[in-house]
Amino acid sequence: MNASPARSASVNIQPDRTTKTYSRDLFGHFIEHFHRQVYGGIFEPGSPLSDERGFRQDVIAALRELHVPVVRWPGGCFVSGYHWQDGIGPERTPVFDRAWRVTDPNTFGTDEFVAWCREIGAEPYICTNAGTGTGEEMADWLEYCNSLPGSRWADRRAGYGNRAPHAVRYWSIGNENYGAWELGARTPGEWGHYVAEAAKMMRRTDPTVKLLAAAVDDVDWTIPLLKAAGRYLDYVSIHGYWDHLNEVNEPSDYRQCMAFTVLPEAQIAKTEAILVAMDLKDQVSIAFDEWNLRGWHHPKPTDAEAIAARDLNDLNATYTMADAIFSAVFLNTCLRHADTVRMANIAPTVNARGPLFVHRDGIVRRSTFHVLRLYASLLGPEVLDSHTIAPPLEVPGGSVPAIDVIATRGNAGSSIIIAFVNKHDREPVSCKVVIGSGPINGTFDGTLLTAPTPDAYNDVDSPDEIQPVDTKVTVEDGVLTLPPHSVLFVTFPC
Ligand code: AHR
Repeated sequence: MNASPARSASVNIQPDRTTKTYSRDLFGHFIEHFHRQVYGGIFEPGSPLSDERGFRQDVIAALRELHVPVVRWPGGCFVSGYHWQDGIGPERTPVFDRAWRVTDPNTFGTDEFVAWCREIGAEPYICTNAGTGTGEEMADWLEYCNSLPGSRWADRRAGYGNRAPHAVRYWSIGNENYGAWELGARTPGEWGHYVAEAAKMMRRTDPTVKLLAAAVDDVDWTIPLLKAAGRYLDYVSIHGYWDHLNEVNEPSDYRQCMAFTVLPEAQIAKTEAILVAMDLKDQVSIAFDEWNLRGWHHPKPTDAEAIAARDLNDLNATYTMADAIFSAVFLNTCLRHADTVRMANIAPTVNARGPLFVHRDGIVRRSTFHVLRLYASLLGPEVLDSHTIAPPLEVPGGSVPAIDVIATRGNAGSSIIIAFVNKHDREPVSCKVVIGSGPINGTFDGTLLTAPTPDAYNDVDSPDEIQPVDTKVTVEDGVLTLPPHSVLFVTFPC
């Protein structure tokens, strides 16, 4: 840990300065009916690893380690052609899914999703069909989930064995409806009106729910949306995938991925500015409800080969320390904006680009799994103001700060827990930490996530190439050393 570092940084933390309490929903997830996420991912009836409902028990146990607060479902693009009534009751009819051009058996529907969320300890978050669907269909879905018996859809739910309401708190109107790729895409003017009318019906069904609507960091889309429907909304939903692999699956190398680490900040700042301009920042939050360094590979041609090509998303070799570092910086960025960004959902939970790879005989915890677990379990509940001066890291097209830091206050104010990210692939960085005014000296408890090389990854035969280790961190005159391509958590008692 104390190799002589070629570069130096500093972090100044004023523990008495304003703190922000962040929402734990920043550690949320997203699961879509797409390829092997639901079927053959979290749900595999008949597998010796599944329970009698078909829920993979190894997946549930792993997700409990992540303390997942909330899961968004069933899409994604999938939802823009999905009719929820096909997925309830004893008779399930397979339906051709026009988003992903495969047949969905509909054996995993609303009741299964809610039951699965409760198993992992997460709040269910339902994203509705604003493509081919109507506001009335959304309000019926809400009635099915949340109303007490005594109405048509609530009685239907009770008749299927769920007398108590599902109490689904989060509901989103639509998914990426601004995009030409989306079934039933809208113009900005259409969107605002549609969301307002749908929201009205949903609020009349259950006024207590939290409502989101598909948005983007673009004034031409989001200002008309907020003008027409802002008064009904609790969040705007935005998405980000930075390494675009749609047509050609050639993942970017480590340094290019580091170039992407600064982009989420710009997206959040722009969306925040729109909320400020509309005077809605105190009422409407941002939900980054799909995010992942890597966009998904789903080539367009309609033949079977193209669908088979989606298997390339599952290659574990793609998900290296670059994914871990990017994800840590992404979470730091959301935490820095914790007063506005109140939810973020890594996309997806399992398989494709997700933190867990699920195969017939077990699971692999990818690098991002460890990042999510460390952030969800080690940080304190309040973000402290901090100022970081970092050396530059050269990346294609310029440079980015080589380190990124978030400082939190532990429970009851008894400690300060800091997450340090060193993006440099080869070099350690020495970092001077100032907390208040006193110099720091001593050896402190830490947890380090790194790997022998920046391109390391976990796989079925080598599941622990990347895994966190407990460590002791020596600080002399406030200076500690951050190993290359690493995330280091250190607890300073106070
Ligand atoms: O590739 C998966 C898709 O990515 C999701 O369905 C959509 O919401 C996003 O654009």
